[in-house]
Amino acid sequence: MAASTAGSNTRTWARIAGTGSALPQRRVTNQELVAQLARDGIESSDDWIVERTGIRARHFAGPGETTSSLAVQAALRAMEAAGVGPADIDLIICATTTPDMVFPATACLIQHELGIGTCPAFDVQAVCSGFVYALTVADAMIRAGNARRALVIGAELFSRLLDFKDRSTCVLFGDGAGAVVLEAADQPGILAASLHADGSRVGLLNVPSHTPDGGWLAHPTVHMDGQGVFKLAVNLLEGAAHEVLDKAGVDQASIDWLVPHQANLRIMQSTAKKLKLTSDKIIVTVDQHGNTSAASVPLALDHGVRSGSIRRGQRLLLEGVGGGFTWGAVLLDF
Ligand code: ACO
Repeated sequence: MAASTAGSNTRTWARIAGTGSALPQRRVTNQELVAQLARDGIESSDDWIVERTGIRARHFAGPGETTSSLAVQAALRAMEAAGVGPADIDLIICATTTPDMVFPATACLIQHELGIGTCPAFDVQAVCSGFVYALTVADAMIRAGNARRALVIGAELFSRLLDFKDRSTCVLFGDGAGAVVLEAADQPGILAASLHADGSRVGLLNVPSHTPDGGWLAHPTVHMDGQGVFKLAVNLLEGAAHEVLDKAGVDQASIDWLVPHQANLRIMQSTAKKLKLTSDKIIVTVDQHGNTSAASVPLALDHGVRSGSIRRGQRLLLEGVGGGFTWGAVLLDF
């Protein structure tokens, strides 16, 4: 599974050396959001949101807060945790659906802001599976000898894509960023990864950017078949989990923590149940962050690490699922 380092018999793995995250300053509780919706004549309630999703609050970016500014904060914290500086980074991958600009890639803006030389820097667009995709690409580049130390970031300003007249989606999402430093090591590290996409499911979840006659939409917004996504997500996540366990040749009982995409507490609990994991093995941040798309997994990971729940040597299953439809899993020893 791991590539050999050229000229040596030593296997190269990629391991997480440090984690970091950042949230916008403005925290919005369900009560505040429900009051805001009520002013526009839209009915919702804290009870409905908590019961259906587990979400109690989210953060929304304010003036001056951008996808790249949150990403930079998260990256700095991850670099500090890893004990490395800008000169040590030779690859930057940013997973985002809400880049600062159509181009250049947000990863290039992050590179410039952090004063990192001329290493490769690019974005990955796989919506809520973005971080799992980005981590898998960085792992492959490190194992192939194309990088030694990567910044892998998930960052979103998903609030920019919300229609606050659509109560079925606007209560679900939030903004934030999470990052890891992934570095070459002679011990695992990432044990196995599995990625999938099914473009035929585009209708379940999308953000159209153009009118039928080809003009740009002034405000692209999320369209989602919530129940369709829900039913599909649980089965796909179970399948991806078994794929990485099989690839790594380990049993599900060896998983210490499930770090799933934080979309809906019920999806997370159903996935854990199918994997015979008790709910105290799930890292949960959806209650405080909502669904932050590509940022959700690294935000949850950093929360788990900094709260002392996730410890060195433990085995983690990271899972993502989202628009595309895309889904995937990464199994790693932390
Ligand atoms: N407040 C109050 N009532 C609401 C709200 C709200 N915010 N939103 C919808 N409702 C109403 C509906 O109008 C409906 O009313 P009706 O029965 O009178 O028609 C009722 O609540 C039930 O609606 P459902 O859509 O059936 O509710 P459901 O239990 O399916 O929950 C939810 C909806 C939370 C969206 C759920 O389906 C879900 O979480 N789906 C998965 C979403 C997800 O995981 N997305 C991940 C990918 S995101 C990405 O990739 C960008």
